[in-house]
Amino acid sequence: METVVSGIRSTGNLHLGNYFGAIRNFLKMQNENNCFFFIADYHALTTHPHPDDLHGNIKQVLAEYLACGIDPEVATVFIQSDVPEVSELYLLLNMLAYVGELERTASFKDKIRLQPGNVNAGLLTYPVLMAADILMHRANKVPVGKDQEQHLEMTRHFARRFNMMYDVTYFPEPDAYNFGKQLLKIPGLNGSGKMGKSEGNGVFLFDTPQEIRKKVMRAVTDTGPLTPGQQPSEAVKNLFTLMSVVSDPQTLKYFEEKHAACEIRYGDLKKQLAEDIITVTEPIRFRINELLSDNRYLATVVSRGAEKARISASKTLREVREIIGYRPF
Ligand code: TYM
Repeated sequence: METVVSGIRSTGNLHLGNYFGAIRNFLKMQNENNCFFFIADYHALTTHPHPDDLHGNIKQVLAEYLACGIDPEVATVFIQSDVPEVSELYLLLNMLAYVGELERTASFKDKIRLQPGNVNAGLLTYPVLMAADILMHRANKVPVGKDQEQHLEMTRHFARRFNMMYDVTYFPEPDAYNFGKQLLKIPGLNGSGKMGKSEGNGVFLFDTPQEIRKKVMRAVTDTGPLTPGQQPSEAVKNLFTLMSVVSDPQTLKYFEEKHAACEIRYGDLKKQLAEDIITVTEPIRFRINELLSDNRYLATVVSRGAEKARISASKTLREVREIIGYRPF
């Protein structure tokens, strides 16, 4: 049995990238493993959400998370800020993280570009807090999308450095996990990059069928079918990538063959893609609405989750303090 940790930031509604990149992997693992799934609401502070919005965002993401099928009866589902032990481990790990390596992190460089007016130290040490989340429960598997690969590599570095510095074998070196062959990067609908919460290129689990049809029909494609010998554009490849996760294999094969034979009509491809996305998201959307109206249930889930997470977290912290040399008088 593996110990599994994974999290989602509470900075916006969940989209297909979150679902296929990460959550679907959690679902595959939750019954056989010791799983901790949490909402990263400390990480969310790096983008300075307004206090009036913070709680609502957390609640929405919690409902969306559970609506996907995460089962709080088998997994520990909690809110990061309900487990304050993580901030102490973060502090301790910060002593092992070097400014140079943090500055070289791809996500930090992206953030400098995206929010040049708010390059706070929390952004710089984001990977350290993430390592604290994972090492807190001494996890060895972390289901995430491709964009988190570098953060996982850094987590392994911090774990190894701790073990070497104190001459112990305390922290496992966790691996990013995908049940398929490789970590996924789900593209957006705008012809480039990955689907994101704030890039305006996403399909959200909470979107209505009308919104999904509208977004998909507007997705960027080529102007006509391929001409023989021509390479498909990035935008068209992205639509096929999306189809490969939401549609059944025969449907994908049908459109791939049409495309290869230079006979494709992008309107037909998009119509099919939109319907297949709706088939995946519709049951989740209904469940989100049910959960959002059951505040008492949500409160019970997170208070039980925090209790369980704190048992594991405080044990780790006790042992880490002992290893570092903090002793009672
Ligand atoms: P966040 O909230 O950005 O994304 C949550 C999960 O969704 C995955 N993901 C994607 N996968 C494939 N294609 C995409 N387009 C796509 N967009 C998002 C992410 O890889 C992630 O797995 N730093 C994390 C939250 C976090 C965490 C942790 C995760 C904090 N502590 C500890 C694991 C373990 C993040 O920003 O996720």
